[in-house]
Amino acid sequence: MISVIPRPEHIEELDSTFIINADTEIYVSDKFCALADFVRDILRYDFAESDKANVRFEYTEALEAGHYDLSVTPSGISAYASDFTGAFYALQTLRQMFEADGCRGAFLCSPCAIIKNDGPRFSWRGLELDESRHFFGKECVKKLLDSMAMYKLNMFHWHLTDDQGWRIEIKKYPLLTEIGSKRKGTHLHSWGHCEVDYTPYEGFYTQDDIKEIVDYAAQRSITIIPEIDFPAHSAAVLAAYKQFACREKETSVLWYFGGIIPEKAGINDWNRPLCLGKEEVYNFAFDVFDEIARLFPAKFIHVGGDEAPTEEWEKCPECQKTMKANGLSNERELQAYFTNKLAEHLKTLGKDLIGWNEILKGNNISRDVVAQYWTSTPDKNVIGHLEQSGRVLLSKHQAFYFDMPYWQTSMKSCYNFEYRSLGIDKKFESQLLGVEAELWSEWLENFERVEFNLFPRILALSETAWSAPSVKNWGNFKQRALVHMDWFKRMGIVCAPAEIAFKRNLAWKKLKGKELDFKSFS
Ligand code: ACM
Ligand code: ZN
Repeated sequence: MISVIPRPEHIEELDSTFIINADTEIYVSDKFCALADFVRDILRYDFAESDKANVRFEYTEALEAGHYDLSVTPSGISAYASDFTGAFYALQTLRQMFEADGCRGAFLCSPCAIIKNDGPRFSWRGLELDESRHFFGKECVKKLLDSMAMYKLNMFHWHLTDDQGWRIEIKKYPLLTEIGSKRKGTHLHSWGHCEVDYTPYEGFYTQDDIKEIVDYAAQRSITIIPEIDFPAHSAAVLAAYKQFACREKETSVLWYFGGIIPEKAGINDWNRPLCLGKEEVYNFAFDVFDEIARLFPAKFIHVGGDEAPTEEWEKCPECQKTMKANGLSNERELQAYFTNKLAEHLKTLGKDLIGWNEILKGNNISRDVVAQYWTSTPDKNVIGHLEQSGRVLLSKHQAFYFDMPYWQTSMKSCYNFEYRSLGIDKKFESQLLGVEAELWSEWLENFERVEFNLFPRILALSETAWSAPSVKNWGNFKQRALVHMDWFKRMGIVCAPAEIAFKRNLAWKKLKGKELDFKSFS
């Protein structure tokens, strides 16, 4: 069996082999000029280029953008696409056929097959990385983008700001990184533990770094969606610019994740949002997004909006004044008022706003925004948004939160995810942009740990995002995934072992220690 992931809908497997040898030559249509270098790198062979080549990447108008045809027979390989992305995806499929399924002698070989009109189910096939809680740096992000490309994922959602660190240079507000990117220590282990490592922690991307990574992603047909999380998750902003809070006071970038440490220390106001009654806060947000919009060519900008507490706004005279002046009947409507202002501003920059589904809580939200549906319990506001023609991105916690241990967000729950399980009717399918997995990094303290949590779940994400439900089959997928897991080892990618990745309802106590000691599995 050919183990290609995501599984194409139309694949005919042939009982023969194609071998690269000294006579192999390539032809790449000049419509896909950047592809030839990828072909050389991926097939690890310094091909001669020739019009009569037996490995051919040809242009055709007959396929949709991002789709491809691929034929591998003993006499040669031909791929067809109407754009770079389609040709690039044909190459990724080919790479898997050579590397995961092929033989590994002096020359690579691939099983033969004919694949027709392979294309994605969803246009948004996303992966989020949180670099606020832990900062991994450029080379790790590039490695992650390479892995995304291998599995035809196309949206990299980059969570760049949070309570525990602001990680992107904003020229107009230098303190965001001078102060906001540094914290005095790091909360260890997992929720419920109180131990802190008091080694100072810092890191951020300059605007030049950002441009370099945006280009690197674009070369791999990946769009980067930056997330600047407003109005909550703002401790790093308020440490740098205390005037943007309802109550001005000196505070620090948080060195702990979640409530147990402040609870034990008796600090009850650590979770303070931006003040939504001060005009300067709106101007600050607009200025930040002006710089963000120039750095990221994506159509969408993520403004966060999750988990905003309302207590500060309830007590703040300026927030209350803004509510009264604008006829807002509660603090959720105040948040929606702010989000609508951001959406209007982003429109002037040619961008659409995306935020977590909590942005829908005020009933005055613009239906032009995209809601990313992450909450673990059903949210009737999401259905209401769809009923009013709103768009939704799916990141159901139990299926797509890859920061969670495998026993909690299993491969199978990701693989078998269907939006109808959320009570979403088929008539709304065209309003669903797609699916996205999340890698929150509170407890992902280094990049090996990120890889352990992502591999092999990335395989389930990829097939859920790309393949037609009619070709999906858990048993068949599992067999193919095992072949890829073997390949990860050869590539030097840290991957959770099958005994963790494929089981659900493992005795949690038995597994807990092992998951924390993940390195023993790599
Ligand atoms: C989230 O997990 N707070 C979006
Ligand atoms: Zn306020």
